[in-house]
Amino acid sequence: MSTNINHDNLPSPQELEALANQLFKAGPGGFLTELQARKPNGDFLNAINAPNTGLFNHAHQGSPPVEGIPSSTIGGGGVSPSAINQGNAVNLQEPQTSFADPNLSSQSPTLSPATGGYSQPAFGGQLPFQPNGDYASYLKKTDLIPEVSPKQNFGVEQLSPAPQNLLHLPYQQDQHFEADLKKVLEQINTSKPGGVTQFNGAPPVTAIPFYFVNDNYGLPAVNPAQSKTAKVGLSGIVPPPFDVNIVRRDFPILQEQVNGKPLVWLDNAATTQKPKQVIDRISYFYEHENSNIHRAAHELAARATDAYEAARKKVQAFLNAGSVNEIIFVRGATEAINLVAKSWGDQNLHAGDEIIVSQLEHHANIVPWQQLAAKKGLKIKVIPVDDDGQILIDEYVKLLGPKTKLVAFTQVSNALGTVTPAAQIVQLAHLAGAKVLVDGAQSVSHMPVDVRALDADWFVFSGHKVFGPTGIGVLYGKEDLLNETQPWQGGGNMIKDVTFEHTQYHDAPGRFEAGTGNIADAVGLGAAIDYVTRLGMPLIAHYEHYLLVYATQLLKEVKGIRLIGTAPDKASVLSFVLDGYKTEEVGAALNNQGIAVRSGHHCAQPILRRFGVEATVRPSLAFYNTCAEIDLLVNTLHNLKR
Ligand code: ALA
Repeated sequence: MSTNINHDNLPSPQELEALANQLFKAGPGGFLTELQARKPNGDFLNAINAPNTGLFNHAHQGSPPVEGIPSSTIGGGGVSPSAINQGNAVNLQEPQTSFADPNLSSQSPTLSPATGGYSQPAFGGQLPFQPNGDYASYLKKTDLIPEVSPKQNFGVEQLSPAPQNLLHLPYQQDQHFEADLKKVLEQINTSKPGGVTQFNGAPPVTAIPFYFVNDNYGLPAVNPAQSKTAKVGLSGIVPPPFDVNIVRRDFPILQEQVNGKPLVWLDNAATTQKPKQVIDRISYFYEHENSNIHRAAHELAARATDAYEAARKKVQAFLNAGSVNEIIFVRGATEAINLVAKSWGDQNLHAGDEIIVSQLEHHANIVPWQQLAAKKGLKIKVIPVDDDGQILIDEYVKLLGPKTKLVAFTQVSNALGTVTPAAQIVQLAHLAGAKVLVDGAQSVSHMPVDVRALDADWFVFSGHKVFGPTGIGVLYGKEDLLNETQPWQGGGNMIKDVTFEHTQYHDAPGRFEAGTGNIADAVGLGAAIDYVTRLGMPLIAHYEHYLLVYATQLLKEVKGIRLIGTAPDKASVLSFVLDGYKTEEVGAALNNQGIAVRSGHHCAQPILRRFGVEATVRPSLAFYNTCAEIDLLVNTLHNLKR
């Protein structure tokens, strides 16, 4: 470490950086090396933005290269939105610095000369970068340690959830996509090369040194009071919501190579990748706790039961459900919907009753109702969408009536990304006397969900779409409703008493969890919920919103592209078709570059047909994606068209 080095004979950091720039520019394939040298804040994929690479010319007309900085310069110069990533390095200059407050709009932090740190409210405590650790993560290592019974406490500090007080979240119904886009583009367009430029917290380019001019794992100098560049760089800058590059280190699979290229995972609507915290938690379960959940039998049974029930509690808090009894573990969202159809639906719906679904639905929220309708003589009605892919509320109101017994709809469309006006749909259904099921499979990973505020009767989601394991999911239901409903499956665990004549069932959740469930993966889901809760769902929503705005703008510039799904309220899905190419051809071309997207009908054929297509290419985003990855996606599409 530098404390043992005589600095008198060494070049200054600025001299080193200048030398490094010369070196990399002179070398073959220099831009990649240069970018790699910028780790951890310089995702080398940013290289495709480098003005001198010629790889992304459409975005660089007339942009003078900025010394040593490989940033995209849209609209005539300045810092790329990719600098969201670079900007985060600023946070790392100060191990004492807390996370940015989620309420970015009203509480822009300022650098305090007295402390050398941000004067801003803390978000979840100290920045959890551990200078002497081998694993810098957003979460403390202790997060890996399971929830335990009081007698085994491992000295684990209790973690408090991140504040949920972002005043102006994306996905509120009053927010308009185009307006946000305009704002972002204005920020980009008013950028001045080399100047103090702000894009969602990006620092000016001069603030980003090479990693090796420091002694801190490539992270910039620690004390801004002694660092000219840091002081210049931090002045007046709003820090970004979180450091995507640190977040990425938690996901081992993001280091994977595909076709000789770094994996770019843009298939998050199909499944999300798992942080090490989740992977380790599941391993820990099998190494130390594995047992069936019959608490009283023995020590491991107690551990397994505690871990499983702790996970249920985490889900309850995550959804803001009123009681743990309202949380039922199932295999996934599909099984949850089938459970409701085959229990409550079968018991309560009768010939002539009507079920309303929306045109946006995934097959999992269509087929179970069709099966039930065929069995019971029910009628299914469909809420149409407008040309952007948003639900037509007026048409919905016309469908509601005394025969409406159930409204089942998605909060976010998996095929288009539309965020539906869920609270309004629920309210109207209740006014008509209907029950409501909300499919949250695509919403829980992108935005805060509050089932009590939503007032849904049931809410379903899958663990694997929220950074948890496959094979585990959740049915939330209002407690009274669950207890009034007879179970759909019989077996062990769900009974109070059995004779050959009669069986008494447990109340929820037990009555719906017959047999041995997926205990380890429920525990893994609990770890995933810890993970996103610590990052903060409002921050995740905020960051992803800007990624979506950025991606949408760049995709629109691709010749022959048609975006399918352009609603003002959207979350993290970009569906498109490309003139002259089959969707699978586009998928294959992207795969050659290491980019994973889904191409096909996405198990949502009716909504694609509404737009006259049978399939789309569907990049879908998560909080670990970067603008640089989007640049690569778009550049690959440009190349395909050439
Ligand atoms: N429902 C998942 C998707 O949209 C599988 O891809």
